[in-house]
Amino acid sequence: MHDFHYRDNQLYCEDVPIKEIAQNVGTPCYIYSHRTLIQHFRAFDQAFDAIPHTIAYAMKANSNIAILRLMAQEGSGADIVSGGELFRAIKAGVPSSKIVFAGVGKSGSEVEQALKADILMFNVESAGELKLINQVAGQMGIPARVALRINPDIDPKTHPYISTGLKKSKFGIAADRALAEFKTATALPHIQVVGVHCHIGSQLTELTPFTDALKKILPLIETLKVQGINIRYLNIGGGLGITYSDEIPPHPKDLAAAVAPLLQDLKCQLILEPGRSIVGNAGIMVTRVLYNKETEAKQFVVVDAAMNDLLRPSLYDAYHEIQHVRKPSGTDEQTVDIVGPICESGDFLAKDRRIPTTNSGDLLAVMSAGAYGFTMASNYNSRPRVPEVLIKGHEVHVIRKREDYEDLTRGETIPSFLETTA
Ligand code: LLP
Repeated sequence: MHDFHYRDNQLYCEDVPIKEIAQNVGTPCYIYSHRTLIQHFRAFDQAFDAIPHTIAYAMKANSNIAILRLMAQEGSGADIVSGGELFRAIKAGVPSSKIVFAGVGKSGSEVEQALKADILMFNVESAGELKLINQVAGQMGIPARVALRINPDIDPKTHPYISTGLKKSKFGIAADRALAEFKTATALPHIQVVGVHCHIGSQLTELTPFTDALKKILPLIETLKVQGINIRYLNIGGGLGITYSDEIPPHPKDLAAAVAPLLQDLKCQLILEPGRSIVGNAGIMVTRVLYNKETEAKQFVVVDAAMNDLLRPSLYDAYHEIQHVRKPSGTDEQTVDIVGPICESGDFLAKDRRIPTTNSGDLLAVMSAGAYGFTMASNYNSRPRVPEVLIKGHEVHVIRKREDYEDLTRGETIPSFLETTA
């Protein structure tokens, strides 16, 4: 479900023509639908109505502070993975009592920052991290609430770069080491063990990996209970997939229906960390065609957006549907590579894609770009990062302005020995 629709052959976001937005803020740009964001969040939240739960939106998917504020107003917390994300979440008004902190490489200063902010808990990923958190908490005189992230060795059947719950991955603590680590954790003076965490991967289009992971974790929670370690929170992570092309991912209701029977006797607060399923289809990236270029081997459509603006196709070979902002009247089609201006052969938005013929100046919408789109953008090739726009009905809100050239060199200095110009 999303709110990008054609009216009279013109693509709209809610009640605003995309063409108008592109004229006002320029291209490339990201455009998000307020209504879709709200609907996706509520669909997730309501699906779990019958289970005491907290949604900690995985802000790595889209961390614009306007989006975070919107989520917070809907009652969401945040799943964070860095001090920078903590800073954003707090700035946006996400209650720290709903912030959970994952990631294999938390630094001492990040731990300190999170303890100061009194976040709900750390999702601890190794013995070394546990030791560090205990030490920092001791120095600060603030006990640290933790969950241990368990790696259940389950294949989520998704792209290898976004699989996180396999034995060979860097994430979490192996299930067969978990009990020992929990025992160590409870013995540490500045640690309060409160939860179990598990996130096995992203863009999952089947339910069985979720339930298989749970089936590995629930006996552990039972064993812990017998050992006197009471688990109050069970965090099952994020990972629910979306439709990019022809995938039919489960609805949050299906996920809830699959996990609910397993959780019946468990007296735990459930934590969920959806990212992509909330924001993915709530956003698009709009780009303008610069040139049609034909070589002996291929036909290229060169556009003004590149891999620095949307990395997913280059990094994961990810498919994003590409639509004309103005539906062409003719029926001519072409098979093309849609490529950007960056000096890399890996800079493409689509390969061998059959689309209606494009002309220089046409606007194209790269669909399903709301998650891991802007957040993975960079300044590679000294390209300023693009604006983000939030549409609410007829209203257009620029929630991040386009960077300018001065932004590109902010923080850089020329040392004194180079001060004179050539
Ligand atoms: N919780 C944890 C601990 C995570 O590591 C992630 C995502 C999530 C929740 C949210 O997962 P989601 O609901 O969005 O699937 N850049 C990649 C995706 C990386 C996902 C990293 N972790 C992409 O563009 O597909």
